Amino acid sequence: AQSHARTEAIRSAKGGEPVVCLTAYTYPVAKLLDPHVDLLLVGDSVAMVLHGHENTLGATMDMMILHGQAVMRGVRNACVVVDMPAGSYEDSAEQALACAKRIFEETHCHAVKLEGGMDMADRIAAIVKAGIPVMGHIGLQPQSVEKEGGYKIKGRTDESAAKLLADARAVEQAGAFSVVIEGTIEPLAAEITRILSIPTIGIGASAACDGQVLVIDDAIGLTIDRVPKFVKEYADLRNEVAKAAMSYAAEVRARAFPTADHVFRKQTPKG
Ligand code: KIV
Ligand code: NA
Repeated sequence: AQSHARTEAIRSAKGGEPVVCLTAYTYPVAKLLDPHVDLLLVGDSVAMVLHGHENTLGATMDMMILHGQAVMRGVRNACVVVDMPAGSYEDSAEQALACAKRIFEETHCHAVKLEGGMDMADRIAAIVKAGIPVMGHIGLQPQSVEKEGGYKIKGRTDESAAKLLADARAVEQAGAFSVVIEGTIEPLAAEITRILSIPTIGIGASAACDGQVLVIDDAIGLTIDRVPKFVKEYADLRNEVAKAAMSYAAEVRARAFPTADHVFRKQTPKG
């Protein structure tokens, strides 16, 4: 019941204040972000961001569950959504439901997310019917990077736009409480947002969406490799981490750290 309250709050944000979302993968970051966001996504981007995999196909059920549990320990108010990893839902609605149940029961998250539109509508419907809220993810679908031969912006041709619109309708029809739209053009994001009765959460999809999501490491300038065009860096943690490491290394080498402030003393007798 508690879990549904949080997803229903997101659903009813349609037409109101923009929905603020970030990814989170760890306890401390979840705890820091929770007071400021509506929704935290334990994205399968964790495979790249924290584990150094080349793409999100490196994510596993165990990885998503472990990070989902860590994030849940840090959250008091946000709605927490855990990504279903590649290979956990594509085969059949039965497989999708079994894996969604495992994620939901082992993490106590509030919803799961999976990539796909018309092709995955029956998976979404089966999971929702079992009482587990689902967030959709359409447009650029990172789990399809190998099939597609790269990351391709969607909806630039009439045919691609019609497909994305149909995917959006299918995801809503299947019972998703909201949908991520990734990598598309503004007019199409605006049209989908206008047509759907559930909130659209954009990433690389313009401010026309009902909300926005970014990968946390991108947003705080901690991403080491290429930063996509749609990212804005709100901090420069790469530089902060490097500066801290340099200062620490210099002080250790100079025996300037630790000082008396950081060392223990012999116990003094009481009385
Ligand atoms: O895995 C992820 O981080 C995501 C978002 C960026 C939408 O799916
Ligand atoms: Na994802």
